[in-house]
Amino acid sequence: MTTIQEQIQQKEGIRPLDVNAEIILETRGLAKHFELAGGFLGFGNKPTLKAVDGIDVIVRAGETVGLVGESGCGKSTTAKLLLGLEKPTAGQIFFKGEDFTKMSRAAKRDYRKNVQAVFQDPWSSLNPRMRVKSIVAEPLQIVTKMTKGEIGTRVSEVLEEVGLNAYQANLYPHEFSGGQRQRIGVARALALNPEVMILDEPVSALDVSIRAQILNLLVDLQKEHNLAYLMIAHNLATVRYMCHTTAVMYLGGIKEIGDSEPIFSNPLHPYTQALISAALPSHPDIEREEIILPGEVPSPVDPPSGCTFNPRCPVKIGDVCEQWAPGLTEEETSHWVSCHLYGDAKERFDAGEAIPAAAVEDDA
Ligand SMILES: Nc1ncnc2c1ncn2[C@@H]1O[C@H](COP(=O)(O)OP(=O)(O)OP(=O)(O)O)[C@@H](O)[C@H]1O
Ligand code: SF4
Ligand SMILES: [Mg+2]
Repeated sequence: MTTIQEQIQQKEGIRPLDVNAEIILETRGLAKHFELAGGFLGFGNKPTLKAVDGIDVIVRAGETVGLVGESGCGKSTTAKLLLGLEKPTAGQIFFKGEDFTKMSRAAKRDYRKNVQAVFQDPWSSLNPRMRVKSIVAEPLQIVTKMTKGEIGTRVSEVLEEVGLNAYQANLYPHEFSGGQRQRIGVARALALNPEVMILDEPVSALDVSIRAQILNLLVDLQKEHNLAYLMIAHNLATVRYMCHTTAVMYLGGIKEIGDSEPIFSNPLHPYTQALISAALPSHPDIEREEIILPGEVPSPVDPPSGCTFNPRCPVKIGDVCEQWAPGLTEEETSHWVSCHLYGDAKERFDAGEAIPAAAVEDDA
């Protein structure tokens, strides 16, 4: 039996990243804080949960950016912010350089057409009472002025592109296998010819034997359409083979980001190191569904001061870790890390320098 990674590799693999390709999607200081119901009998200060706490990510045309991290670190919230399903508390989202909040209504419509999603569970994301042709046609009917005939042609086209037959357009979702259902989800996302797809664990709900087929389909579609992907995944080996860039999230922040190969072969952040060693299977056929590290993830309602990883960090270097929030520094080409083991923060801290403004806790 071959592993998913081998099955992906048996194909030609992903196309090398063109670093000069246009930046399609960019976030700057993107944050989402949820105000929770709380206080005594509803009175008093309501606690704030910092689900996403100021992240900077760019996704270029033809690039796959992988978002990894333990459960609850803010991956899906990031996806929802990019899809316009949640409103940011702070920060900006740019589409081809244009700030989403400053876009005209027409430009926002264009954004929604160009940023599509594929979710984890094709069962819950497809309406069981609709025929496949209606499911795939729906976004075309809502967003475009295409005629009925044109929509029919487009539906057949995308179904074929995702490996389904045009005659299957008349069937209902329950008449398909799990893998085929996810192909329908991909067809629906593809129908509007988007520039970016947000993939939130697109194969986690599928049988291991068919995951590689869907991942290979996504790779083929990317090559064909120069699609940009932001992909959330738990299986780190899959991320290594699928993603040009990897971003490691912890408690709503990015701890390490850069080209996937150096991140996996030479992880710099203690959290990434722990994540990768916890995910390494003892046998190549073993797929780890969930990453479990020792120690509890602190609550995002009251995250630790300084470096948010400090209570669990095995190599904490002292008070600086508890008092200064490290920024991202480019430690090697295209490889950024947020940790005081790198850079000169510890020397500056020990010399009594005031806390840098950027590192002061922001309660906004
Ligand atoms: N609508 C909401 N209201 C309050 N808290 C929320 C809301 N949505 C998400 N959260 C919280 O935000 C944090 C991040 O959640 P999110 O779903 O983004 O995590 P995740 O990284 O996708 O996790 P998983 O790997 O389990 O899918 C969690 O603590 C979650 O409980
Ligand atoms: S900043 Fe300090 S606590 Fe945080 S990961 Fe680096 S060494 Fe560990
Ligand atoms: Mg999630």
